[in-house]
Amino acid sequence: MFRELMKYLAKPELCAPSSAPFWDDEHISKGMLAAHLAPEWDAASRNHSFIDRSVDWISRIRPPTDYPRLLDLGCGPGLYAERFCMKGYQVTGVDLSARSIDYARKSASRQGLEITYMHQDYLSLSFHNAFDVVVLIYCDYGALSDEDRKKLLSVAYQALKPNGHLIMDVFTPARYANRNEERTWRFEEEGFWKAEPHLCLESFHRYDDANTFLNRYVVITATDVYCYNIWDRTFEEEELRGELTRAGFVNVDLYGDVAGTPYQPDSTVICAVAKKGGSRT
Ligand SMILES: C[S@@+](CC[C@H](N)C(=O)[O-])C[C@H]1O[C@@H](n2cnc3c(N)ncnc32)[C@H](O)[C@@H]1O
Repeated sequence: MFRELMKYLAKPELCAPSSAPFWDDEHISKGMLAAHLAPEWDAASRNHSFIDRSVDWISRIRPPTDYPRLLDLGCGPGLYAERFCMKGYQVTGVDLSARSIDYARKSASRQGLEITYMHQDYLSLSFHNAFDVVVLIYCDYGALSDEDRKKLLSVAYQALKPNGHLIMDVFTPARYANRNEERTWRFEEEGFWKAEPHLCLESFHRYDDANTFLNRYVVITATDVYCYNIWDRTFEEEELRGELTRAGFVNVDLYGDVAGTPYQPDSTVICAVAKKGGSRT
């Protein structure tokens, strides 16, 4: 175990994967669901009054009368999906977390909302010309590797009908402007990462040349070591436009968040609204 631990003390190479699943872990997903559902937190989801404003804005700029079918990639427990459904969209939500999808299905059924939920990796979706709007909300795009981001844009592009729109957000490097690399640790009898006693070595790493940042959690129990690498590939305006246009999107409009705040050069978030173009490079 000592050798394994030593391996985790070094700064990892860019985009090194986690050693264990994160979103769909039986224990971690309990804490994640609680974080999604906490109305005031900006944790797994944004606070719920922001979500209300976000859904209001999206339904104004791409109204369900003209854009009826909406795909929510990484829908979590359905906070956006339910609100979109109440606005009049026909909603399909996809998420990797069985716990979130289970919660979302029960919640929709309790409220009599007709939403299609799929427990699936969004990278493996194969919809074709099926949706008017695809949303990917709360900066999940930046957690993906270069290859997976390309794959996800291709999934979204294929899923959209001609002239359909992708609405997504990413963090910008400004989010981390004042944060130094650091390491800290804590011991917990039971906590977010494990239900058993564990030591958590937490570190933050900067990869400024790649506009990429890493929150790393090395979790040590009596018998095992787990490493969770939470990557954030942040984007400057032109980098995001570049990835979208290379994937075939056109007319890329940028905002300061997914509630329509105007984009400013010092924004910590960029929201892109991009139209499916006729061909891809
Ligand atoms: C930051 S949360 C945002 C959830 C939701 N969009 C919101 O803002 O409330 C990211 C979500 O994406 C899901 N997710 C991450 N990777 C995924 C994948 N490969 N396929 C499907 N869902 C994924 C997670 O389970 C989680 O629910």
